[in-house]
Amino acid sequence: MKSMKLYDNVRRIHNELAALGISPDAALRVDQLTPFDQYHYFGTDAVDEALEALDLQPGSRVLDIGSGIGGPARYIAAKTGAHVTALELQPDLNEVARDLTARCGLSSRIEHVCGDILDGAGAQNYDAIISFLCFLHIQDRRKLLAACRAALKPAGTMYIEDYGKPRAFSVAEAEALLVKVQCPFVPKPGEYESHLLDAGFADVAMSDVTEHWRAFTVSRLAMFRGQRARNVGVHGAAIVDGLDDFYGTVAKLFQAGAITGLKIIAR
Ligand SMILES: C[S@@+](CC[C@H](N)C(=O)[O-])C[C@H]1O[C@@H](n2cnc3c(N)ncnc32)[C@H](O)[C@@H]1O
Repeated sequence: MKSMKLYDNVRRIHNELAALGISPDAALRVDQLTPFDQYHYFGTDAVDEALEALDLQPGSRVLDIGSGIGGPARYIAAKTGAHVTALELQPDLNEVARDLTARCGLSSRIEHVCGDILDGAGAQNYDAIISFLCFLHIQDRRKLLAACRAALKPAGTMYIEDYGKPRAFSVAEAEALLVKVQCPFVPKPGEYESHLLDAGFADVAMSDVTEHWRAFTVSRLAMFRGQRARNVGVHGAAIVDGLDDFYGTVAKLFQAGAITGLKIIAR
């Protein structure tokens, strides 16, 4: 996973907090973290879109699959009062997530679990599943979707952001996806829906958001490069070079029309 540079040196968020003059043990507000803790596109705006689709109430139970350093989980718990199980594969991301959640005073509403969704999700009967840019890391979609179906209440709703495959990849694109984006499988048009229906989901609604994600990833790269001197001052050159390579790889894949952006709701 660490050949995807977004996941290397995840403690770099502490460099950003230090640059804001926030000491390592200080209490935090969720809004102080959201510029740095959302590992998907369009930050909390994208999470708000999910919330509109999910109608969560205080006490609703949400499973966040691939919760990263906990950005979406904290935002949802703070905004809705829902209880979130934040399931994350990588131990270092999970540790950073748990620490930031505690510093935000949200530990009673968010349970951080380090594990693999392919091993099942533990407690069942969730009202909702959210998953932002995690499924693209998982090859075995049948096993993944069976685990999701088993984790949800019968009337539950799942909200996914993921990639789709609009055309065959060149050798270089397939290599970049596999190594630098850790993306071993991308579903073709129609394939996603049939996997969901086969797993027992219904009312599948898919939106193609490719143009938005292309614009976002291109401008993210330009902004990051425009602030290189500042970023090197905060993080050091090695971290900045790694992120530059990752942001550049993703922008190039969108610009070449190699991947599509998908938002999926299924019940
Ligand atoms: C692009 S990050 C997004 C993190 C978070 N959803 C967000 O938007 O801030 C995808 C995350 O999924 C996690 N992940 C990948 N495969 C997983 C699996 N099989 N089970 C649980 N988490 C997984 C990765 O470790 C990574 O932290």
